[in-house]
Amino acid sequence: MKLEFPKNFYWGSATSSHQVEGNNHNDWSEWEKKNAKRLAESAKNKAWPDYILDKYPNPLQEENYISGRACDHYNRFREDFDIAKQLGHNAYRFSIEWSRIEPEEGKFDEKEIEHYRQVISALKERGMEPFVTLWHWTIPLWFRDKGGWLNKNAPKYFERYSNKISRSLQNVRFWITLNEPAVYTSLSMIKGTQPPGNKSIFKSAKAKANLIKAHKLAYKAIHSISNSALVGVGNSANFFIPHKNKLYNKLLVKIISYLEGSFFKKIRKNIDYIAFQYYRSVDIGFKLGGSFLGIIENNLDSGGERTDLGWKIYPEGIYYFLKNLQKYNLPIYIMENGLADARDEKREKFIKEHLKWAHKAISEGVDVRGYFYWSLLDNFEFVEIRGFWPRFGLVKVDYKTFERKIRPSAWEYKKIIEEGLDVNVAG
Ligand code: BGC
Repeated sequence: MKLEFPKNFYWGSATSSHQVEGNNHNDWSEWEKKNAKRLAESAKNKAWPDYILDKYPNPLQEENYISGRACDHYNRFREDFDIAKQLGHNAYRFSIEWSRIEPEEGKFDEKEIEHYRQVISALKERGMEPFVTLWHWTIPLWFRDKGGWLNKNAPKYFERYSNKISRSLQNVRFWITLNEPAVYTSLSMIKGTQPPGNKSIFKSAKAKANLIKAHKLAYKAIHSISNSALVGVGNSANFFIPHKNKLYNKLLVKIISYLEGSFFKKIRKNIDYIAFQYYRSVDIGFKLGGSFLGIIENNLDSGGERTDLGWKIYPEGIYYFLKNLQKYNLPIYIMENGLADARDEKREKFIKEHLKWAHKAISEGVDVRGYFYWSLLDNFEFVEIRGFWPRFGLVKVDYKTFERKIRPSAWEYKKIIEEGLDVNVAG
């Protein structure tokens, strides 16, 4: 049996500027230079499989932790869009690099704006709808020097930038103001494993309040320029499972889920659609000395199918989230879903299973309008600076030659786009 998806469904993949473009100068690129050595050293304490170590760069090498030329997508975007088109995609999500657009405070670089105009034209010429993210975590150095999201004027700075971009790119319909602000505030401000490396609940709360304000101002700015614009915020969610189903772990899951959803609650009246991002389930329970906040361990259960990053694959989680989001009565786009799988052994099944569960939600009335695989290309996994070794791409990238090679799973994804999902294969 074939499962059909709604007409006019958007099928595509997603990237972000810092992870693919190359030659960015922002808070992340500076942090990378300072931390590469330390990260390569600490990687020695882990056992790595040969299929990770035999690639370039591998986690034991400093180059792994420096984004450098990344995928050189900044120069090769047309070639990459040809590939996406060939793979049957009709949409593409990418982000604008704020540090290119406004390298100095209040001074906009028209040449760089022109670059993104060309990116959008190249997509449209190939029949692909652009979904444009304004902030996918990196910030210009002048903004970093002012304290970044902790500066009381941060929302105003973001509004000025959003205003400039939406005025300059008026043929864009779909906007994502912020990518995963709640993940950013916990990793960047509490856990401290990525720029700016803070470990403070107070700073996290302050940044969060500023990000909420920033979104609301950008939402207004975009709508004041275009009536047809649709604006959302990328929100990701882990499917938390209470370890051993213990009562106190259930309580912990309730608290964490509440915290994870709190950003969304604050902005849900100021969005036109839900941009939902889903990767995995997390087995969660109390454990003194654990890895998260010191009291919570998120890898207690070691079973199940895992990605190269050790993330547990849990396709039905997407169904439960989609059903739960139905109450907001807004169109939903699955803006990211994917896995690190260097050997491309699990990707086909991963995509099919997640789509099977998403389809179940759709058949029960949930208004899902698009699916974006993360990512089109292997790229620089800048989340907690894992670097180049995790391979998320539908397309393999050789980081020495920049040669692109389409992985077999990408053709399977194309078949689903064109012919529907064969459930016998999905199992
Ligand atoms: C982020 C991406 C990242 C992906 C895989 C998402 O949370 O938006 O930037 O590469 O997860 O970790």
